[in-house]
Amino acid sequence: MSNTILVGAQWGDEGKGKIIDYLTHHADVVVRTQGGNNAGHTIVHGSEKYVLSLIPSGILHRGKVCVLGNGVVIDPVALLGEIDALAGRGIACTPENLLISDRAHVVFPYHRVMDAFREDRKKGRIGTTKRGIGPAYGDKIARTGLRMIDLAKPARVRAAVLAANQLLKQLGAPAIKAAAVVADYEQAWKRLQPHVTDTVGHLHAAMKKKRRILFEGAQGTYLDIDHGTYPYVTSSSTTSGGACTGSGVPPNKIDSIYGVMKAYTTRVGEGPFPTENAELSDRLHDMGREFGAVTGRARRCGWLDAVATRAAVQVNGVDRLAITNLDGLDGQEVVRICVAYELDGQELQRVPADVEDLARCVPVYRDFPGWKTSTEEVRKFTDLPKAAQRYLKAVEKLCGAPLELISVGPGRHQTFHA
Ligand code: IMP
Repeated sequence: MSNTILVGAQWGDEGKGKIIDYLTHHADVVVRTQGGNNAGHTIVHGSEKYVLSLIPSGILHRGKVCVLGNGVVIDPVALLGEIDALAGRGIACTPENLLISDRAHVVFPYHRVMDAFREDRKKGRIGTTKRGIGPAYGDKIARTGLRMIDLAKPARVRAAVLAANQLLKQLGAPAIKAAAVVADYEQAWKRLQPHVTDTVGHLHAAMKKKRRILFEGAQGTYLDIDHGTYPYVTSSSTTSGGACTGSGVPPNKIDSIYGVMKAYTTRVGEGPFPTENAELSDRLHDMGREFGAVTGRARRCGWLDAVATRAAVQVNGVDRLAITNLDGLDGQEVVRICVAYELDGQELQRVPADVEDLARCVPVYRDFPGWKTSTEEVRKFTDLPKAAQRYLKAVEKLCGAPLELISVGPGRHQTFHA
């Protein structure tokens, strides 16, 4: 493996944390390039479970350099919470193993207030994580945001809070105490400053030394601000192109692109989801699965949507697929794959742009016999039940990229090559 981008091929929560952890063995540098602490990557090491929101999971591996790239939005207080929680478990984040871009935008408490305020409206709810991600990216695009480097100048922080208070007043939301934010962020800056650097320069120096870079995607293709089910999306570029803009590593330095998908589909938050299925949701929830790592929300579940995943393969340039949670389908009599949509009597092979149209799409399914036996102990493709092998072969064909990795449980040892 040389420089590899890993993206989610569905609506997020595809089990990327686990695959990233697996691929990290073959990487020297692990980079986050978009999103913020709205993400939740769950990694199980032995009997230990870690949920990381901002810090790349490479931090759990000795000798890896972790980078928060320029495309990430950082809540410094949340980041310090994560650093301290890791320290409490014997994992140290140092200026050598955790680099933070000086150009990454900062999430402030007023972003969270604005996010929650918009979410609490009856109409137009997105179902966000309320971590302030949308408003922070909004400020970035409007050119009114502050970047990590600005935290060195408390006057800028104070001015930003005062300006935000004007907006909060218009919304009818309570004002934020500027002095408290300035003090908290000054404190945070003191601790984070040794990590803050020109990460683009570091990444190019690493490439010159032939270091292998893994770009760990957060969220998924259908939450992408351009390619997702807008407006029910997050506010960053979650597709592979975002890894380049969010890190300063150009496309011609990328060697391969992994798409991670579940053996079925899930989504959290609002928005259309053609293959959503209440029975499958109940079944997975009864198995104790499919609750959000960050918010604890029960995820909506449905059958694998090959129309959506095939388009995700195209948009990202996925050249290898990793499929997770195969074991989630273990008890099913029948497993289904959506191979087309039907809308107003027409068959569609692509995801329509209008979410109201997408919400009216009726999935056209192809049914496969279930395998009705546990796959959790399987470590080889050929040891999988024949029905599971047939299902995976169909997934590969319908989604349009070769299957490289299969995961049958949360543990590290439960991942194998296809
Ligand atoms: P935001 O990113 O908090 O603004 O939320 C926007 C949408 O993205 C909502 O539907 C969230 O549930 C979804 N979302 C954000 N982060 C994640 C994630 O890590 N996994 C799955 N969904 C996410």
